[in-house]
Amino acid sequence: MKRIAGNPYLIKEDNDILIDSISLSKLLGRSKTPFFIFLENKIRDNVRTFTRVFKSLFDNIKVFYSFKANFLPEICKIIHSEGIGAELVGLPELKLALEIGFPPGKIIIGGPYLTKELIEMSVDKGVKEIIVYNINYLKQIDTIAEKLNKIQNICLRIRSSKFESKLGIQLTNKSLIELASFVKNYKNIKVTTILSHYTTQMNSLEQFNKNVKTLANAFHLLSGQGLNPMNINLGGGFPEATIMSEKQLEKLVLNIKRQLVNYNLDRKNIYLEPGRYFVGDSGLIIAKIVSKTDNRWIFLDIGNHICPRFAKCSLRFYNASQINSPHKYKTSIGGIIPTDQDVLAKDYFFTKEFNEEEIVLITNVGAYTLTFSNRFPYGLPNIFLVKNKDVKQIFNAVINHDFSLV
Ligand SMILES: Cc1ncc(COP(=O)(O)O)c(C=O)c1O
Repeated sequence: MKRIAGNPYLIKEDNDILIDSISLSKLLGRSKTPFFIFLENKIRDNVRTFTRVFKSLFDNIKVFYSFKANFLPEICKIIHSEGIGAELVGLPELKLALEIGFPPGKIIIGGPYLTKELIEMSVDKGVKEIIVYNINYLKQIDTIAEKLNKIQNICLRIRSSKFESKLGIQLTNKSLIELASFVKNYKNIKVTTILSHYTTQMNSLEQFNKNVKTLANAFHLLSGQGLNPMNINLGGGFPEATIMSEKQLEKLVLNIKRQLVNYNLDRKNIYLEPGRYFVGDSGLIIAKIVSKTDNRWIFLDIGNHICPRFAKCSLRFYNASQINSPHKYKTSIGGIIPTDQDVLAKDYFFTKEFNEEEIVLITNVGAYTLTFSNRFPYGLPNIFLVKNKDVKQIFNAVINHDFSLV
């Protein structure tokens, strides 16, 4: 069995590719290119591996899926059915999560921009925590909570130690004093958690260590003001599951555990907000070569409007029409936006020969591609969910028009 891109649900079989239990050639009969495929079994495996590894070392973790990685309802439903909570940034996601059935007690929500409607609905429904990036929001949350006769739990996002980081609260003498006075005076809020999310696609222990260190420093500073949140939230940032093997994840989690023990933070409840790890390698794009040049450039019928660089995916490209040919010849891959900037990969190892109309498989496109896709005026791709031999179309560009949340 020859796996493609290290993904156990992508197997070379004769001259075809088995996608879970269905052949690519069959799937090509269902839609014109380009289209997306999501692998339900891969998402479930990822969720289970992640929770199993963390639970083997921690008895105090809670996991919240970061919807922004992929907010397609069918994807969120799968993750909900695995018993995971939700980490949300806005009202459209909150409405979706509640509709799917995430209990408010398993929802944490917030970000740099909190609207009145978002705060009202969050408090009213009783979400577990509102995440605050700016302490000036505390007054508004307190006022709304008082009106609704509730006590709202708050998570403070602390600015990470990352160079040029701008997101979250910077704990200075001034902000600490202000915060302490807000917490004392606002009776309808309670600071329960502090969060530090370092960055996405973290591939070194060092980055995870810096994140824990940020939280340890924050605890130290907050306790100086008499504030002792019960929980810490380590955010997300884990790479695609096929990029970070289970063994590497085990090593990483052990390292996080050691760091937390080191800083005496291990007895807190630990929250995690993975996005990419759950869905990144569950997503595939099936595209077609539309043109080529003499100097080994190929152009696909999909580009950065759907598969944006901003998504930071670990992209892998395969000539599916010649899947058994060696992929060892440097080739550059462009998209169809009429700008020289639409480059998907430069000097990527591809087949020696390639032709127009051949099919290209792109892997690891499950996270942030749709989120950061834009409205360049080409049609949107169809989207299919595959589980075993079953194929379900979950987005039909002609009927559904758009996958945005409203
Ligand atoms: C606060 C926060 N938590 C979690 C995530 C999810 O990150 P990832 O998909 O890299 O796990 C993000 C992503 O930007 C984030 O900003």
